[in-house]
Amino acid sequence: MSEKEHKVSRRQFLNYTLTGVGGFMAAGITLPLVRFALDPALKTGADTEMVAVTQVSQLSSEPKRFDFKIDQVDAWYESEVSRSAWIYQEDGQIVALSPVCTHLGCTVDWDTNEEFKNRFFCPCHYGAFEKDGKNVDRTPPTQPLFVYDLEVRDGTVYLGRPRPQV
Ligand code: FES
Repeated sequence: MSEKEHKVSRRQFLNYTLTGVGGFMAAGITLPLVRFALDPALKTGADTEMVAVTQVSQLSSEPKRFDFKIDQVDAWYESEVSRSAWIYQEDGQIVALSPVCTHLGCTVDWDTNEEFKNRFFCPCHYGAFEKDGKNVDRTPPTQPLFVYDLEVRDGTVYLGRPRPQV
């Protein structure tokens, strides 16, 4: 290559320099703004707070349905959401199950079908679950009911997020 081909005119030098500095400054301003705008969406769902649902004294070995509300933050949108749980106490242990059928999401009820006595029953497609939430063989659901995170403080039952049973 000749020396002539490598020569950069003053005008070209200024062009390159200003373009580089301008791009750097634009990125410095734009990136924090983009990060600020997307931040709520990038956060993994914040842990749902534990919500007081009932008193331990209200529980028996028979599952009982309790309705409650939680504050849910979904990216930029904050709302109050209704939830329900089937809760019972047996052998000193409290269990809180989600009423959402794991087949296609209908709502299960306790002991409402003659064929499935003392079990949770889903009327949508005749799904059934044992008292501990395990799905009954040869019914449509293929996984157990979700179980709520649970804490007991001063005789009050607090529920968090429903999670799949392992
Ligand atoms: S939705 Fe419950 S059995 Fe299908």
